[in-house]
Amino acid sequence: MSDFAELHYNGEVIKLPVIEGTENEKALDISKLRGQSGLITIDPGYKNTGSTKSAITFLDGEKGILRYRGYPIEQLAEKSSFLEVAYLIIYGELPSKEDLARWEKDITYHTLIHEDFRTLLEGFPSNAHPMGVLSSLVTSLTAFYPESLDPVRSADEVRMNIVRLLAKLPTLAAWAYKNEIGQPLVYPLNSLDYGGNFLRMMFATPAEDFRADPVVTTSLNKLLILHAEHEQNCSTSTVRIVGSSHASLYASVSAGINALWGPLHGGANQAVIEMLEAIREDGGDTAKYLAKAKDKDDPFRLMGFGHRVYKNFDPRARIIKKAADDVLSKLGVNDPILEIAKHLEEAALNDPYFVERKLYPNVDFYSGIIYRALGIPTNMFTVMFALGRLPGWIGQWKEMRENNEPIGRPRQVYTGENERDYVDMAKR
Ligand code: SDX
Repeated sequence: MSDFAELHYNGEVIKLPVIEGTENEKALDISKLRGQSGLITIDPGYKNTGSTKSAITFLDGEKGILRYRGYPIEQLAEKSSFLEVAYLIIYGELPSKEDLARWEKDITYHTLIHEDFRTLLEGFPSNAHPMGVLSSLVTSLTAFYPESLDPVRSADEVRMNIVRLLAKLPTLAAWAYKNEIGQPLVYPLNSLDYGGNFLRMMFATPAEDFRADPVVTTSLNKLLILHAEHEQNCSTSTVRIVGSSHASLYASVSAGINALWGPLHGGANQAVIEMLEAIREDGGDTAKYLAKAKDKDDPFRLMGFGHRVYKNFDPRARIIKKAADDVLSKLGVNDPILEIAKHLEEAALNDPYFVERKLYPNVDFYSGIIYRALGIPTNMFTVMFALGRLPGWIGQWKEMRENNEPIGRPRQVYTGENERDYVDMAKR
């Protein structure tokens, strides 16, 4: 197998190195192409372009494989905890018993946020979407921890910035929700685990405390693990490029939250439920919505279907679909939109339009059904995705800084006007 490719252009032969990863993926290194040929490449949406080398996640879209630091997500989802997986993603190895205990303790003892965040929250109207509130509050962390603005001052400082963000994001998310519904804020309780603490801050009131059912905290743990990392997706690429300017971790993650918000990305889990509700209100006419999804003149897409990389089943969707059945039956929840989702999936997987385009359910197709069963309101679904994806954003940001990667600055092909002179107003 050749370790270079030849580009024949304008009578010149340009040799381009081919690099190979540890899973035999190959890439054409074009880092010197412009200097050698004057040419750049163009690839809208970066469908064929790698932005970096990374040792964090391996996924194979054709085979439906997803591994964090070499560990299959099926095993991690079954056997690990979200904080242990966060440590693995960020530091590269499963923690020792002592390291995990210190990691969990540090995160537990940094869940409280400054009282002035209450004033910030009061400034948002009650109809503010929690994702916009969350990204604002995460950026605001730089005001309360100005030392985070020099994010790589020391390994201890980096760890402190990371611990604070992992610890405080659930509190910020729950407070954004309480502020939206006009209920008193609930403070973290150190005696609870990560998921149980978040759910209590979401659902406890002064009138009645709240403890999540173990079925609920177990399924939440699994969902957070399945959302934790996914290599160079839109929001993670956003975190990396913002961080490449040496912006702080908090500023970079805030940008990632905003990228995730879009309905083509993490916002899809909210859009899936809204779609399934619309189908239910329309008498469960799945055929009508499949036809809309296939109609090029109709902007409607089958939300939760299709993926840039997975051209086979999204392995996360498989696990979440099974978890949805388990959780709903254990909680005794009979949600009619689960049946609509299954019917829609079956119809789509037998429809040539979806089969030819290799469109399968993705991570967002069933996750909202579980969130609903856990009592999470629909407009908080993408916030749940952000809580899960935080370790991935942190790990990728840290890798990018540790590798001293250059500031991200793509080129372009100009298609505008050629040079022309200014026209005085009198002559226009
Ligand atoms: C996530 O990248 C990641 O890793 C993301 C993520 C992560 O963990 O970070 O996995 C999380 O974002 C999952 C995706 C959630 N989004 C949705 O469910 C929204 C619905 N899906 C699509 O909009 C779409 O499938 C994308 C955005 C996910 C992928 O789009 P691509 O790769 O750019 O594919 P495309 O738009 O070029 O589509 C190829 C063809 C087109 O038809 P043709 O022009 O060939 O005729 O498939 C069609 C598209 O119209 N198509 C769909 C469709 N998705 C693609 N048609 C109907 N319904 C859909 N959902």
